[in-house]
Amino acid sequence: VITNEQYRPEYHFTPETNWMNDPNGLVYYKGEYHLFYQHHPQGTTWGPMHWGHAVTTDLASWEHLPIALAPDEHGMIFSGSAVVDWHDTTGFFGGKSGLVAIFTHHDQQPGADPARQRQRQSLAYSKDEGRTWIKYEGNPVLGHDSYVDFRDPKVFWHPQTAQWVMILATGQTVSFYTSPNLKDWAFASEFGEGIGSHDGVWECPDLFPLAVDGDPANVKWVMFVSIGDDPAFAEGSRTQYFTGAFDGKTFVPDEASREIRWIDYGRDNYAGVSWSDVPAEDGRRIYVGWMSNWRYANQTPTEGWRSAMTIARELTLTERDGAATLISLPARELENARTPLVALKNVAFGELQAKLAGLELDSYEIEVELPIGANLEAVGLKVRTSADEETIIGYHAGAEELYVDRSRSGRSDFHKDFAGKHGVKLANTDGRLRLRIYVDRSSVEVFAEDGLAVMTELIFPDPESKGLTVFGAEPNAIVSSFAIYEIGGKK
Ligand code: FRU
Repeated sequence: VITNEQYRPEYHFTPETNWMNDPNGLVYYKGEYHLFYQHHPQGTTWGPMHWGHAVTTDLASWEHLPIALAPDEHGMIFSGSAVVDWHDTTGFFGGKSGLVAIFTHHDQQPGADPARQRQRQSLAYSKDEGRTWIKYEGNPVLGHDSYVDFRDPKVFWHPQTAQWVMILATGQTVSFYTSPNLKDWAFASEFGEGIGSHDGVWECPDLFPLAVDGDPANVKWVMFVSIGDDPAFAEGSRTQYFTGAFDGKTFVPDEASREIRWIDYGRDNYAGVSWSDVPAEDGRRIYVGWMSNWRYANQTPTEGWRSAMTIARELTLTERDGAATLISLPARELENARTPLVALKNVAFGELQAKLAGLELDSYEIEVELPIGANLEAVGLKVRTSADEETIIGYHAGAEELYVDRSRSGRSDFHKDFAGKHGVKLANTDGRLRLRIYVDRSSVEVFAEDGLAVMTELIFPDPESKGLTVFGAEPNAIVSSFAIYEIGGKK
């Protein structure tokens, strides 16, 4: 396969060749974070789905491994999860521990309308730390007579009830199933009617507990539900979250979950889920999403490979206005992969502009506190700039809006819905907007106000669009801190 590397990210995960969508089977085991992914190894558009595979020990650099799961007599391998079966509940491991993948087999309903899909859950296991996989001879382990959309199992061990729990996307709801051994599943409950966004089919759910502001006496459960692309809605595919209580069978949403809340307000973060089995002494909930949007995922202008994952992120909950609220921040490991380039404190805005004028950068992180005090016009940064290209990250204090404008970010001719300005309402009370911005060859990820709002957006700038500037404040306004870190070294 001939690839064009022009837009290949420096520090984001991409398949070596061909198509990728959702992250699958995220599991930590014996020092490695596994990342499997929806993969079509014969083409650069969506097709017969396999699980591609990679591992990382530092959440920043990845080792590609051979394809883990390929289609078989039960169909394609759709999205799903993986767990460590520590106590050999499956009997696959002769009393030891091992990895089990729980995924959706997708085929056609025999004897029915040939267009009618059938989706059933199946198992595969690995006795060699994920290097080779054996499909369970009893597959599939869970089907349904009437649901056509019945997919994307995310499984976890629920210690309080000593059982496995599966959350599964079931059309416009999620359903819970429980099991003692991952093979026999019993229906527990269904959630989603009359709550949340139904602007598309529900996909790729996740459910995990987090202590609000780190308080072990105040644990809430966080549910992620991705919703598929429906042409009626401008945003395309995106991921919502709920907070609430979970007793091993039923999810009871918080009051705050009556409002629709998104995990990311950019256009390009979909189908993300969290790693299973991160050691308790670490205690983090680590996440990665697919950095694309079904609206145009098959048309993005890369050659020989297509799509990247977001950077790894740490998820926490904090209380805001009485509601448990999701915070996403870059995984702290990414700080080991960066090299400081610029570090300024209390610098005048005009002076900062002059300092940035000569810089040429393509993959980096910016950490800044922007002065927005009296400014009722937008202030912000422009990244990946040249005479005719720029990606604008701005904050409009009057409108209380954080936005990314990729109207002139580079190539956008591949889909009419790509170019544009997208925003999120974000209040600021102290006159300084805190931003961490990750820029790579074909993406920007903006973490605002310590992770309270996140925007992830693809961009396709010319390789020579390497300028960086700030705009909008008075020349003598003071920028309390401004740092740039280069990430990676490949030139
Ligand atoms: C989400 C999704 C999943 C499905 C997979 C197929 O992006 O549609 O629901 O399992 O992609 O590749």
